Amino acid sequence: MLFPPPSMRPSNGRIPSSLSLIYFSFSRVECNGPTALRHAIRETRALTDKPFGVNITLLPTINPPDYEGYVRAAVEEGVMIFETAGSNPGPLIKFFKSRGCLVIHKCTTIRHAESAEKMGVDILSIDGFECAGYPGEDDIGGLVLLARAAKELKIPYIASGGIADGQGLAAALALGAAGVNMGTRFMCTVESPIHENIKQKIVQSTERDTVHIFRTMHNTTRVFKNKVSMEVVEIEKRPGGAKFEDVRDLVSGERGRLVYENGDPDFGIWSAGITVGLIDDIPTCQELLERMEREAEGIIGRMSSLVTPRTKL
Ligand SMILES: Cc1cc2nc3c(=O)[nH]c(=O)nc-3n(C[C@H](O)[C@H](O)[C@H](O)COP(=O)(O)O)c2cc1C
Repeated sequence: MLFPPPSMRPSNGRIPSSLSLIYFSFSRVECNGPTALRHAIRETRALTDKPFGVNITLLPTINPPDYEGYVRAAVEEGVMIFETAGSNPGPLIKFFKSRGCLVIHKCTTIRHAESAEKMGVDILSIDGFECAGYPGEDDIGGLVLLARAAKELKIPYIASGGIADGQGLAAALALGAAGVNMGTRFMCTVESPIHENIKQKIVQSTERDTVHIFRTMHNTTRVFKNKVSMEVVEIEKRPGGAKFEDVRDLVSGERGRLVYENGDPDFGIWSAGITVGLIDDIPTCQELLERMEREAEGIIGRMSSLVTPRTKL
């Protein structure tokens, strides 16, 4: 979800979501390759006339995806908005910019944000420690990270990680963000294509129900706390540490994907952020976004009453 900077907002007083960013990740398509991405793009185009983007995440994985194939497929299908994430995004950013695409780069540190800014990205997505997936290794929460972004960055940025309601949205806007990106919250919506049991599991969870795996391998990943992720953490704690080979079977993407299909939350590892503690219903995306807008507008309106007018002498 992307909100425009205040200067671009219409003057009717409402905060609009002017640009929908539909999110693909390789987890959805990696087993079927670039052709599946082409189908997903066509499917999305048939469902909406709003702009949408494709995420390209460059990370070490068991079976590296055909990045070049995915990029070619998306560009040939006419996608003009890309979110890049992960290591060494320079060549990818350069390529997208040479094609006139709008590039959002997601990162977890201000130094990476600054280098992406120099590379010419259009928007930064600043992902705090609260996020699902890869929070980086610096452990900086969104509050400080966004306040630093407000001081250091020259281009618009959106807040990512830890946002699931209107309070989070209002806080992000107060911290200078032009909008927010949400992952975990969207998993728990009517339209989300994951098994109902997993949605219910998220609803029942608290903010203490996620865990970091791969900490000792410097590839930290926040996932749902279950039998498999706790076993990985235990293996990592063994004297002498663990190698990726020791946990390879436990963390396989295929096992994780099956969680969403068979609805068994203990079947494999699956990404979830600490917003699981804020999520207590399964609304449609429209209900969710309208509620968030209403809540944020209410909060922003009430905040102005905290300001005491100064008397002019
Ligand atoms: C199920 C799931 C899969 C995700 N897959 C990716 C991915 O492939 N690439 C990526 O850059 N981020 C991925 N993310 C992270 C989100 O894009 C986003 O940065 C994160 O969810 C924000 O934190 P939040 O979950 O607290 O909203 C994923 C998140 C979830 C919940």
